[in-house]
Amino acid sequence: MIERIVHEQLDDLEKAGPGADLVDVFTESVPSRVMCEMIGVPESERKSLQRHVETLGRLSSTVPEALAAVSGMSGFLARFVPTRMDDPRDDILGDLIRGGQLTEQELMGMTATLITGAMDTTGNMLAMGIFTLLEHPDQLAKLREDPELMGAAVEELLRFLTISHLGASRWALEDVEFAGQTIKKGEVVTVALPAVNRDPERYDNPDQLDIGRTDHGHLALGHGVHQCLGQHLARTILRVGYEALFDRFPTLQLAVPSGEIQMRDDFVHYGPRSLPVTWDD
Ligand code: HEM
Repeated sequence: MIERIVHEQLDDLEKAGPGADLVDVFTESVPSRVMCEMIGVPESERKSLQRHVETLGRLSSTVPEALAAVSGMSGFLARFVPTRMDDPRDDILGDLIRGGQLTEQELMGMTATLITGAMDTTGNMLAMGIFTLLEHPDQLAKLREDPELMGAAVEELLRFLTISHLGASRWALEDVEFAGQTIKKGEVVTVALPAVNRDPERYDNPDQLDIGRTDHGHLALGHGVHQCLGQHLARTILRVGYEALFDRFPTLQLAVPSGEIQMRDDFVHYGPRSLPVTWDD
């Protein structure tokens, strides 16, 4: 299913070019279409859900904007989940309903968590990874020469980019002594994931992108019991997406100087606002 969706979006990219915005035609659509198919969300609802998730992830959204997004999401869930409870399909939501352990409210919460967890994260990682590989032609050439490196390349891109800056937060259940500090019971600790993933005591040349690196163990997807629930799905989308794009568009390049790419620096997850690219016809 992921391969089909990736190739359908790449067909659209082919038709749109040569020259298109990858965020618009490819990186934003792929993960949101995949997640919607996995939950059984109708295609007609996808774009508006995407906009609600975006509003909620934008740190500069005003309170009325955020409340409108929450109410848009809740309205959709209140229509969608009870219908599926009456007629469960062969998808994740259907499995959760048939499992019989979640209340209607919990099913709505889980659906919202999966949608919000998947949409903004994976699309930005897909876009940032493509941008980064185009900016590191030696690494891209190495990957093209040896496609077996794709798994390691995805891990290295996750580490190097760490698009989720405020990802992992924990609430101390008791007083904890850590690195000479006391974290008091009830205090919240947020780990600066990009700093951890570029720690020179942990990684050789941490600021260098090296897809041949073998000492992964990064925290881009968090750690422990609350580690990212969608990590294997995200990795699969990234692998399939990078592989198909660079395979079908061997002359892909940025259409503007890299310094002109506008970054989303007001979002929970980091990524480009748009990614203008071009290729030889
Ligand atoms: C490259 C893409 C992704 C990145 C960088 C990412 C990153 C993260 C991070 C940093 C956390 C916090 C982990 C922690 O607190 O230890 C997290 C949690 C979570 N993610 Fe992801 N994520 C990605 C894709 C996805 C996808 C595709 C889904 C949905 C299928 C998803 C669903 C979740 C959920 C439900 C949680 C909460 C887990 C819990 O609290 O137990 N994520 N993610």
